[in-house]
Amino acid sequence: MIPMLKIENLTVQVLDKVILKNFSMTIEDGEIVALMGPNGTGKSTICKVLMGDPTYTIQSGSVTYNGEDLLAMSIEDRSRKGLFLLNQNPLEIEGVSNAEMLRAALEARTNEPMNFFEFNKKITKICKEQNIPTSFIHRGINEGMSGGEKKKNEMLHLFILEPNLILLDELDSGLDVDALKELAEGLNTYIHEKHASLLIVTHHSAIFKYIMPKRVCVLKDGQIAKTGDYHLAEEILEHGFRYNEVSEKQNDE
Ligand SMILES: Nc1ncnc2c1ncn2[C@@H]1O[C@H](COP(=O)(O)OP(=O)(O)O)[C@@H](O)[C@H]1O
Ligand SMILES: [Mg+2]
Repeated sequence: MIPMLKIENLTVQVLDKVILKNFSMTIEDGEIVALMGPNGTGKSTICKVLMGDPTYTIQSGSVTYNGEDLLAMSIEDRSRKGLFLLNQNPLEIEGVSNAEMLRAALEARTNEPMNFFEFNKKITKICKEQNIPTSFIHRGINEGMSGGEKKKNEMLHLFILEPNLILLDELDSGLDVDALKELAEGLNTYIHEKHASLLIVTHHSAIFKYIMPKRVCVLKDGQIAKTGDYHLAEEILEHGFRYNEVSEKQNDE
């Protein structure tokens, strides 16, 4: 079976710095994979490259999404085909409301105008179910929102756009424990109901209390240095990222 996402030998550069070097990873349909690594190792870079951020130069390698060449797709196409990034630092877009953007995105998918009242009913229902203030609906995208509100607002986008592959970049940054629990539990329910795939990018494992990854990968020097099950995340939590390097060295001696 073709994996949902297949990244092969991807080398990515920004300015004159190589960040990912022959990076490879696959995510199957409905799979939850965690990508861990210290700050600055390139975790957010992977998410942004997958979404088509032109800041990053792809030197070599390939990415397929459901068997199609992802790197050849426009940013709009990637979103239309079900890819979604929940940003580490969500951008503020002034002057465009959530409702305007989301309605336009849904219309672009079907190529048909969406009934205003139906859309309002749908978005209001989601807000109520997910405990998202209905005042967000007509606010500018992330405009003037606190860190936690921005993440909540991005979750609203997710529930409307109904993606198949979610890239979750450091959900816990800017969130207090209660907000993290609420958002992570909502997301966990969503991915299990939709059989969606999830890449959890994080440098620590607070989120694993609510969403359990099947596979944990550790990024180092632009590549995946280690893969394991959930116990690898526990090991990292207890001993830090350098623990594995130390124990590998001791094994060599
Ligand atoms: N737009 C950019 N311009 C310059 N350097 C960047 C840019 N994006 C990422 N980098 C650099 O690439 C490296 C990896 O960054 P990032 O992917 O954000 O790491 P992580 O998410 O693992 O903390 C860092 O050294 C960072 O400074
Ligand atoms: Mg990051």
